[in-house]
Amino acid sequence: MSLNFKGRSLLTLNDYSEEEIEYLVELAMKLKKMKRQKKHKYFLKNKNIALIFEKTSTRTRCAASVACYDEGAHAEFLGRDDIQMGKKESVKDTARVLGRMYDGILFRGFSQDTAKMLSDYSGVPVINGLTDSYHPTQVLADLMTIKERFGRLSGLKIAYLGDGRNNMANSLLTACPRMGMDFSIGAPIPLQPEKEVVDLAEKLKKSGTVITITDDPVAAVKGADIIYTDVWVSMGEEGKSGIDERVKMLAGYDVNENIIKSTGKAGTIFLHCLPATHKDGKHCGEVTEEVFESENSLVFDQAENRMHTIKAIFVALIGE
Ligand code: CP
Ligand code: NVA
Repeated sequence: MSLNFKGRSLLTLNDYSEEEIEYLVELAMKLKKMKRQKKHKYFLKNKNIALIFEKTSTRTRCAASVACYDEGAHAEFLGRDDIQMGKKESVKDTARVLGRMYDGILFRGFSQDTAKMLSDYSGVPVINGLTDSYHPTQVLADLMTIKERFGRLSGLKIAYLGDGRNNMANSLLTACPRMGMDFSIGAPIPLQPEKEVVDLAEKLKKSGTVITITDDPVAAVKGADIIYTDVWVSMGEEGKSGIDERVKMLAGYDVNENIIKSTGKAGTIFLHCLPATHKDGKHCGEVTEEVFESENSLVFDQAENRMHTIKAIFVALIGE
């Protein structure tokens, strides 16, 4: 089957088929190998890519910049205070201007609608580098990390503990079952995923995969090959009302040694998109220091894979 990526945007992985997602993961693995062997093909030679960041970033920004540099493209970082968008100029007008100058845009910000509008009006591929709703480039790196460890995706079980309504929960819930992975979320009832996201995940999932939503963290991780968590307070939520109550509600949902043992499996890995809040004697957080630093914590492979996967996306969507 021939796959066609050229000129497409990537706003969520929901618009991409299982085969297309597999292809992007495989391409990222090839590009990783080529980089290790110092073989650069410059698949993005003479391309210009705009990186719009309304929110801060370490991994996504650096991954996109290095990916561009490695493949011969020019990356232009446009931070919140660097451009007129959303202040003196509408998103629609900004999109049309950038589309005349750039071959692609990576956008990180608040609203999924902004990403969609940039895509609708720029006429060039727009890649979602995180919004309040979805973080698809992260999930591609997660799938790559899982595939590197287990050699496959289908047939594995992934359990997510924590805030079940954030961008990572939405993205993993809709993408992993689609790849044939059983998926469970352990979250307090008020923080369980929105019905429309669960319905979408059920609609997109590969037949036979099981999606479980529970408020029992121990039940959620039973039989899990992968345990995933994310911060309890996402970017832009700090200081908002209800956040202190949310953190209190999540106190029993941290990933600790007991949770890892509760899988009943020996080789369960720990993943986190980062940045992480480490739980230690003084601080509460979503993962204990012990688990974060353990042998089965692959968080830094995952962080590195952000670069190879963003590169694969750029090459597939924007490259010649
Ligand atoms: N995981 C992730 O997106 O990290 P940054 O916020 O540092 O980009
Ligand atoms: N849910 C987190 C993910 C960070 C990569 C946030 O939006 O801040």
